[in-house]
Amino acid sequence: MPQTTPDFPLDRAPGCPFDPPPHYAALRAQAPLVRVRIWDGQTPWLVTRYEDQRAVLADPRFSADPSKPGFPAPTEGFAAQGRQEVQALSMQDDPEHARQRRMLIGRFTVKQIAAMTPRLEQIIDDLLDRMEAAGPPTDLVEAFALPMPSLVISELLGVPRQDHALFQRVAGTMISRESTVREFTAARDELAGFLGDLIRRKDADPGDDLLSSLVVTRLRTGELTPALLVETAITLLVAGHETTTNQLALGTLVLLRNPDQLAVVRDSDDPARVASAVEELLRYLSITQNGLSRVATEDVEIAGRLIRAGEGVIVPNASGNRDAAVFRDPDRFDIDRPDVRGHLAFGYGVHQCLGQNLARKELQLAYPALLRRFPGLRTTLPDEDIRFKHDMIAYGVHELPVTW
Ligand code: HEM
Repeated sequence: MPQTTPDFPLDRAPGCPFDPPPHYAALRAQAPLVRVRIWDGQTPWLVTRYEDQRAVLADPRFSADPSKPGFPAPTEGFAAQGRQEVQALSMQDDPEHARQRRMLIGRFTVKQIAAMTPRLEQIIDDLLDRMEAAGPPTDLVEAFALPMPSLVISELLGVPRQDHALFQRVAGTMISRESTVREFTAARDELAGFLGDLIRRKDADPGDDLLSSLVVTRLRTGELTPALLVETAITLLVAGHETTTNQLALGTLVLLRNPDQLAVVRDSDDPARVASAVEELLRYLSITQNGLSRVATEDVEIAGRLIRAGEGVIVPNASGNRDAAVFRDPDRFDIDRPDVRGHLAFGYGVHQCLGQNLARKELQLAYPALLRRFPGLRTTLPDEDIRFKHDMIAYGVHELPVTW
């Protein structure tokens, strides 16, 4: 085993862009709970096994509140954000977390998302039309993987089309590991200012979007303050497009490197088979590469060790999702694997991804539509020349140059 307190995030192996850092496997086998050193010198615990990860994420004695001492913030920018007075649901514990989540969940149910299908198909088809008309080569991220989820979440919230460029730029700065705290805060403040104005306009003239509905049913009743509504909107906008963008672009690359399985996703008439392929892509890639952060509020025993109150914990779900105790031959990409259910790509417990039904539907529609439209789709660069996002909280590709 290498050094006793490794730096976190751990490095991926050269030439294995789809695999998590190989050190996770050794840790799962020999030291499922170790201390790691993060950017600010703190040494939180790293929990690498699937069952232990679920135990942490399901245990209310682990807090998601970044203002608590010992919380392992993924970047300096997030640490600064964590000190703000007003926090949206992802940075709150129950009961406040549950109170906020209840106000949103109705818009993200399987049924509500299923009703969005025709509109999602239209957004996808329009983007593919544009890509086809412009002709090859193109950058798949810019032409498709970025605008698709971005248009979807903007439309759902009610962000006007002309403002999309602003929030894409700002969100990119916020999730970069390389942004300085000043850049992060400036980006956040810009987004907050823009959303504050937008909320005032919705208040004056509500539409049928989510922001308008929150203004009418929650802001006017006092259940949400203007500042908390802004925080909520920032959380949804940032969480709602960066993750899906990365999953879509990187997942396409995985499929291009596995042509037999790509052919199934492209040609299958069975939505269940496509859905299962999407789950496997989520498990296999687990793009939240900084893991999920918590801090213990009481002494808790995990993996036979005592985590003391005030100590930070990082749960790299990419490691749990490659745990051979749960997933057979876990490093194999297999869209037909029977054990894919129960993967942790959307987290686990009370904070499990609010947007998971939306993300699933977007991906289930987008991969086949893209592959059917361009049956000859291929990358123009070998993997070693593709810029993978080692510098971001959500893993993916900066660009994906393709032709067809
Ligand atoms: C939470 C992943 C798409 C909104 C989470 C968590 C994960 C995750 C791992 C749990 C974080 C934790 O426990 O600390 C993903 C992935 C996505 C995706 C991999 C796409 C492939 C979306 C979308 C939305 C969204 C489209 C849009 C609404 C949220 C919110 C939370 C969350 C609001 C916080 C929930 C809470 O604290 O109760 N996501 N997400 N996500 N996600 Fe997603």
